[in-house]
Amino acid sequence: MCGIVGAIGPMDYKPFLTGGLRKLDYRGYDSSGLAFWNDGKISLYRALGSVDNLASIVPDRHPGSAGIAHTRWATHGGVSVENAHPQRSWDKKVYLVHNGVIDNFEELRAWLRERDFSFRSDTDTEIIASLIAYYLSEGERPLTAIKKTMERLDGSYALAILFSGIPGLYFAKNKSPLVIGLGIERINCLASDYAPLMDVCSDFTAPEDGTYGLLTGNAVFAFRGGKNIPLSFEPRNREDYTFDLEGYPHFMLKEIAEGPKVIRHAVSANFDAKTGYLFEQSIISSLRAADEIVLLGCGSSHYAAEAGAAYLNRSGFRAVSYIASEWIHGLYPRSRKPVYVLISQSGETADLISCLDLIDGEGRSVAIVNAKDSTIARRSDHVIYIGAGLEVAVASTKSFLGQLAILMLLAGALRHDDAVPLKLLDAATSVEEVIRRKSEIDTLASECYTARDAFFVGRGMDYFASEESSLKLKEIAYVHSEAYPGGELKHGPIALIEEGVPVFAFIGNPELGKALRSNVQEMMARGAASYIVSSSSSAREGDGFVYPAVDPSFAVFPEVAFGQLLAYSLSLRRGLNVDKPRNLAKSVTVN
Ligand code: F6R
Repeated sequence: MCGIVGAIGPMDYKPFLTGGLRKLDYRGYDSSGLAFWNDGKISLYRALGSVDNLASIVPDRHPGSAGIAHTRWATHGGVSVENAHPQRSWDKKVYLVHNGVIDNFEELRAWLRERDFSFRSDTDTEIIASLIAYYLSEGERPLTAIKKTMERLDGSYALAILFSGIPGLYFAKNKSPLVIGLGIERINCLASDYAPLMDVCSDFTAPEDGTYGLLTGNAVFAFRGGKNIPLSFEPRNREDYTFDLEGYPHFMLKEIAEGPKVIRHAVSANFDAKTGYLFEQSIISSLRAADEIVLLGCGSSHYAAEAGAAYLNRSGFRAVSYIASEWIHGLYPRSRKPVYVLISQSGETADLISCLDLIDGEGRSVAIVNAKDSTIARRSDHVIYIGAGLEVAVASTKSFLGQLAILMLLAGALRHDDAVPLKLLDAATSVEEVIRRKSEIDTLASECYTARDAFFVGRGMDYFASEESSLKLKEIAYVHSEAYPGGELKHGPIALIEEGVPVFAFIGNPELGKALRSNVQEMMARGAASYIVSSSSSAREGDGFVYPAVDPSFAVFPEVAFGQLLAYSLSLRRGLNVDKPRNLAKSVTVN
């Protein structure tokens, strides 16, 4: 989703702003732009496509004493230069970049039209610039104009704002991520996350929703509801935000390879062989006291939640999982004493933040999050960090394994079951073996890379591996893919099976293997090209890929590693951008 960067003070702005945007480009975007403030005048540059296109139209060593920049992932209005940010008010007094979505923008646009405002773009962002300009034209000073504008906006926004003829880098924030950094040499900066600021800033703060203010080269002033508020700045560990391929051709492959390390880290951070589980006691007590554990997530994080809920149920605890964007519609029963577990890599997913809006104040939320100090981590009552390290590729890989490992450890802690960490360590070893045999998966990909459709099937816990693998194939390889529990195929989907359609079947549980093999036979009888991925304790002659057996509930780990590598290989074979698939964003900050 959109990313913003801004700075004020003496510096060479072009490399800082374009470099900053490149560090945010994992978020996904389709156009970019920047603006420089120089002696009261603002110059604007915008381009479609990559940040390289933008850099090619911006003069080197462009003069300026403040600058703002943006990568846009289109929401309101198509992909065009006019819709790219920075957006400006019609009178060119206000220039701003925006991450978020304004829900009442149509109403505000009509209101502004009645006051003779015109618009150049289809964006909700231009409405914000125009509203601020309106209040300026009424004689308000910039900070009051921003405050009055915020009072009119429904929705989410992180804004960086420049005013023609008025020095200062202004900001406002509600429900979209924003970080402010104190610069090392008379500069101050802001951005959607820490990465673009690490080279030039020493200490950082993430302002609360409703905050607005002003950065100068020497100071940061923040306000909420007209009152000056103090901000506390803290240093950050640079290594947590560095992007390095470490010799891998793509971040996705590097991150898949880090899967075993992430599982082992989850174990060592949350379990000690001598003292037992290390989770905060208050988390364990509230989960034990809950009449229902409600797991919420989106996409891959939802699949981790599904597998985690199944394992918690199996461990004797009542758990349910829901897609966050659906749960908010109130269709599902709410028990008397639930605990909510919010699962997210980025910690910024808007659909999950909407869940938090509904459960705020109940004192019952536990976040399982990768990104430190992200909105979901800060707003939840408790947080467990996944500790997977920065995940750059858009597709979630290592963080999925980390999320599931933490959920299984929680189940182990609730049940005082010290075998769970050992089973996870076995799973890490099995994943390692899958990764070591990547070339076999590459060969398989070379045989089926022209397929337009694919199916993934499994039973029991293996079904969750099917769901996650199928999602990976869709998003990275653009192959239409369906995941089904084996028993469900004959109730409809089997009608789609044609000659040569690839069917990947996961069998990690020997007891369920027989039934799934019958389902696969039914598909093969109708022409499917089946490929069975089984554990060494479930394997039969002729299976396509056999991984080292683990406890059947933990087979999801090696199976998902197989699915991740298959999607990676197919994506490359199909000549696609593995790390940045089309239309997708790493941090989904709109509902
Ligand atoms: C899939 C993927 C997405 C995310 C989903 C939730 O590879 O990356 O489906 O899992 O957008 O994101 P987080 O975990 O950041 O809340």
